[in-house]
Amino acid sequence: MKNIDANGHVRGESLFIDDILIKQHTLHAVVYSSPVAHAKDLIIDVSKAEKIAGVERVFTAKDIPGDNEIGGILLDEPLLAEDELHFQGQPIAIVVAESDFIARQARALIEISYSELPIITTAKQAKEQGSFINPARSFSMGDVQKSFDECDYVFEDDTFSNGQEHLYLETQGSYAEKMENGCIKLMSSTQGPTVVQRIAARVLGLAMHKIEVDVTRLGGGFGGKEDQATPWACMAALATYHLNTPVKLILDRHDDLKMTGKRHPYESHFKIGLDKDLKIRAFEVEFLQNSGAAADLSPAIAERTLFHATNAYFIPNVKTTVHSCKTNLPPNTAFRGFGGPQGKYVIESAIAKAADQLKIPAWHIQKANLLKENDEFYYGQIAEKVESINTWKKLNKKININRLEENIKVFNDNNSLLKKGMALMPICFGISFTNTPMNHARALVHIYQDGSVGISTGAVEMGQSVNTKMLQIAAQTFSIDPELIKLETTNTTRVANTSPTAASATADLNGKALLKACNALVDRLRHVAADELSVGVDTIELNDGWVHVNNNKQTELDWKNLVFKAFWKRVCLTENGHYATPTIKFDKSKEKGHPFAYHVYGTACIQTTIDCLRGTYEVDSVDIVHDFGKSMNIGVDLGQVEGALAQGIGWMTMEEIAYNDEGRLLSNTLSTYKIPDVFSIAKEINVQPLVIDAEKQGNDMAIFKSKAVGEPPLMYGIGVYFAIANAIKAFNPNYQLKFHSPITPEKVLMGLYEKQKSE
Ligand code: MTE
Ligand code: HPA
Ligand code: MOS
Repeated sequence: MKNIDANGHVRGESLFIDDILIKQHTLHAVVYSSPVAHAKDLIIDVSKAEKIAGVERVFTAKDIPGDNEIGGILLDEPLLAEDELHFQGQPIAIVVAESDFIARQARALIEISYSELPIITTAKQAKEQGSFINPARSFSMGDVQKSFDECDYVFEDDTFSNGQEHLYLETQGSYAEKMENGCIKLMSSTQGPTVVQRIAARVLGLAMHKIEVDVTRLGGGFGGKEDQATPWACMAALATYHLNTPVKLILDRHDDLKMTGKRHPYESHFKIGLDKDLKIRAFEVEFLQNSGAAADLSPAIAERTLFHATNAYFIPNVKTTVHSCKTNLPPNTAFRGFGGPQGKYVIESAIAKAADQLKIPAWHIQKANLLKENDEFYYGQIAEKVESINTWKKLNKKININRLEENIKVFNDNNSLLKKGMALMPICFGISFTNTPMNHARALVHIYQDGSVGISTGAVEMGQSVNTKMLQIAAQTFSIDPELIKLETTNTTRVANTSPTAASATADLNGKALLKACNALVDRLRHVAADELSVGVDTIELNDGWVHVNNNKQTELDWKNLVFKAFWKRVCLTENGHYATPTIKFDKSKEKGHPFAYHVYGTACIQTTIDCLRGTYEVDSVDIVHDFGKSMNIGVDLGQVEGALAQGIGWMTMEEIAYNDEGRLLSNTLSTYKIPDVFSIAKEINVQPLVIDAEKQGNDMAIFKSKAVGEPPLMYGIGVYFAIANAIKAFNPNYQLKFHSPITPEKVLMGLYEKQKSE
């Protein structure tokens, strides 16, 4: 089945926030934000702005009737600044006017005064000054110190991975309307409708039932709208609350880039110990996460970094620590992989370092340490249905790593100005919210009396095609034409208390809830059919829109008639399904447990060619064997792999977030921040599903055994960093491996001529 939004998207008919037909008297809001990264004694003067014709009002913190607090995990973030300023781009005031244009003009007339304070922009500075979001966290298994003493080789180094801008096509925004009885309806481009509802209620001092949040779809989220869609919805709500008219607030791209957080940059230090047989015996890391000025989701992201610090390898002695460092940057937030990619970058750097020192290809070490069945993850979960070696073997069968290596050597021997490099990249990603209580979902199904069906779930469609998967589940369970089924908007009044659409787990959680609801309805309808046809209920089946009896004999009774008969018999044609992931648990006092429903595996091989005069490079090919389980929609799932890979390559090679020492975002336009385009994506991408045993494949914890796919493939992109580094090495044997991503053409060029420079 194709993505059900495909035609609407192509025709431009799909609705986003900016497409909502605005009501009469709608006002437009823009946000005035801090020009400095750190200050106190803030005094705001909005008098000149409010005098402009067409300006309705300017709101500041003192207009907030409830709590000026939007923190989700920690209560440390005001909606609007009060006395202190903590980052450039921190919202201070909301200007509401007849038009966006007037609001912007008025915004320029707001005056503030403050006393500046010292600014911290890097995680290392923060650590030195003891500036943290919360206490550090450590996971461990075995005894690393003892083990390092016994290892044949021990290597250590520093790494840095930069942030990443989400660059969802649809910028942040919300449309707010006052309803009767003091209620407010918010249309929001959010991954977390319930988050918006809860925080808007808190800010306005209202009960949650007074706030309705409705989401049609997002023009991309990528994690950037898990928590950070909330403030803009709260601001629109605040203005509506006071003015009683609808208010539209959509950030323009410039404001969005400046005011919102990104993927967390990490500065880390690793130590890795190996034996002569290349088995990794011990691994120790200290991760410094640049959290920005408030917690946002940083503690949860830090936790997932620890979970994925050993990637797809079994290591018997591990100790990891993460510090969430408080800096004067916009609070950094969820981004596809949720801290997992930052963790994996460090272990891959450690392996690359060891391989470089031992003068062997890194893949020898990778291969020697791949997870096996029943290995213990260092957080206590036992690895089950492990596909690491299977995906590696299948990939090797296709590409023949040894032969490839020889071909590359021949090419490199025969070319002086072009050099090729390759790298392998295994992945292993845990599926479930790491915060166990978040792993539940609900679905509400109505069968209307004409046989058509309406489905509501907590899932938010953001391009990943979760709605298409939901529709498939209902169509398959009812065995009816998909045309009869409609996916409703995601609305807090129909499905309440939802977890955000995140953690790649949306189709599993909401899909399983939906499956339960559909099955309950099928059961009810089968009883009606048995009654109508005077046969035992056990013989009844619904098949292709018809009632079948006695091992699939079609009857005269079709779906529509059956539904109508059920309605006439006063049978309930509505069902609410609830699903909570079984078996998962995690004990934070011991940092041990079984946090994930299952893991997703895969292996990629990346080949690159670098131009040794210019420092430019091309990704020649990415061959992947990916563990989809038993994919329920291979077209959608392949799209997710390719999109995630592109995003991973961008993060590792070209997307360079830059803040200056004053905390000002320098890469604040699309001319200074480069994301992958058709020229920079791999020239060839081959994605092969791993199919080992058609019966055993997949995992029952996944919906229809179709494994979660949204985030894991991003991490294949990490391999591109090391493939490029290997190509540099082929040109310049004196190149000292560096673990400082992204590996931009500038860095490649410096690396190619590094020796000459220092001579
Ligand atoms: N794909 C598209 N097209 N747009 C997105 O915003 N977000 C990613 C991934 N794929 C995203 C996407 C992220 S960060 C996550 S967590 C998952 O989709 C969420 O959806 P799922 O749980 O349905 O996989
Ligand atoms: N992944 C994504 N989002 C989340 C998680 C997670 O594990 N926990 C809380 N929000
Ligand atoms: Mo995805 S980073 O879990 O929204």
